[in-house]
Amino acid sequence: MIRRVSNIYCSRGLIVLAVLFLTTSCRKDPVVEEFIDEPVIEEEEETLKTPVLPEEPYDYEARVYPDYFLEDPLLNLLNTLGGSNQVTNNGATVGRVMFYDTQLSFNNTVSCASCHHQELGFSDNRVLSLGFEGELSERHSMAILNIDFQRRFFWDTRANSIESQVLMPIEHPLEMGMDLGSLVYRMQRIDYYPSLFEAAFGDTAITITRIGLGLGQFLKAIRSYESKYDAGLANDFADFTPLEEEGRALFFSGVHSCVNCHTTVNFGGVSSHVNGLNAGGEGDPGVGGITEDPEDMGRFKSVTLRNIELTAPYMHDGRFETLEDVLSFYSTDIQSHPFLDDRLTTDNSIGGPPEILDITPAEKAAYIAFLKTLTDWNLVENVIYSNPFPE
Ligand code: HEC
Ligand code: HEC
Repeated sequence: MIRRVSNIYCSRGLIVLAVLFLTTSCRKDPVVEEFIDEPVIEEEEETLKTPVLPEEPYDYEARVYPDYFLEDPLLNLLNTLGGSNQVTNNGATVGRVMFYDTQLSFNNTVSCASCHHQELGFSDNRVLSLGFEGELSERHSMAILNIDFQRRFFWDTRANSIESQVLMPIEHPLEMGMDLGSLVYRMQRIDYYPSLFEAAFGDTAITITRIGLGLGQFLKAIRSYESKYDAGLANDFADFTPLEEEGRALFFSGVHSCVNCHTTVNFGGVSSHVNGLNAGGEGDPGVGGITEDPEDMGRFKSVTLRNIELTAPYMHDGRFETLEDVLSFYSTDIQSHPFLDDRLTTDNSIGGPPEILDITPAEKAAYIAFLKTLTDWNLVENVIYSNPFPE
């Protein structure tokens, strides 16, 4: 119960305490009177949740990528699997708790999972997500999977390690609004954290670095390799329908260049491009907003297409509701842009006239059928990635 006293916001629990201690904070709230006679302990138990964890931590370490990931030359080059923050069962466990803990946000209202839902491939079905004060995020939320094979994060690729990335939403003024120093202070007073940190890192110290390591390990443990497509790699696509097979052939034929940008067995996440969403370089500058290099204006991360069936709406601004809309865009709506990728221009020069790919309705249906074979139902149902806090 004492834990919340150290927090600097005005929650319901604090209103109760504030009245008890006869302080003047939160007085303006009209509900104060109603709480005076209510038993304080019950109120507190209602608001403070403790995670329910298995006696033995879940076996995250057992989730090992099949060989074909590392046999892909680019993924072999890019992967961080041998890096310093390898996934351990206890590390991913503390990361899972933090990922779902609303106490990581300034006013205890929002967790990472508020904008990254397991059942949606860890993305959000809102065009823009709701932050801790109900304000909207600046871009559409992103799916999370196979982090080990990506080196840059966010639509504009501004974070270059997952351990630094995970701290940014916590501090973001619209997302979680929490100062990292205050967060450490707060977490030291939450009874379940010291022991979880001890199990993960050897002693009970809670530091900003360790928060990054733990969250990073949980995200890295979100490994997707059990889609119908992955099964197909093992059995020569014996279970694919004719339409899925047609879509697969089309995708890998490169006739519409999809495979060139959404590349590798991870289907993207390794590079950024201008795909012609906005005419003349208008709108969100993407990578250019970070590097200030004119050639990067309008460039965005060519995200992975794994789990794409679950992660609508699409693009950095969530402008397309369906995969049909995305295919229609690539078919006839690519906009001219000074740095439009050369694979999408008629003369194969950067910034040339936009190509009209004219993808037929039958081809669109085949693409979509194929893209849906990239859905990994194990990932969205597996308890090891689920919310440990009782609803
Ligand atoms: C209020 C909604 C919101 C919250 C809360 C939130 N995120 Fe995000 N997340 C987003 C948005 C929006 C983006 C894309 C932002 C951008 O590109 O500028 C994003 C991007 C990401 C990415 C990049 C994925 C990629 O492929 O590059 C990761 C990883 C991520 N978030 C993890 C987290 C973690 C960990 C937390 C909790 C500490 C968290 N997010 C909290 C909305 C949110
Ligand atoms: C020149 C590189 C390039 C080519 C070619 C390309 N894409 Fe993309 N794709 C991107 C980029 C970059 C984005 C993210 C753009 C943004 O949000 O600003 C994207 C986004 C997407 C998305 C939305 C992803 C999400 O999570 O919101 C889908 C789906 C998609 N592409 C499918 C395709 C298909 C299918 C093809 C072939 C018809 C294709 N792409 C061709 C670069 C490319």
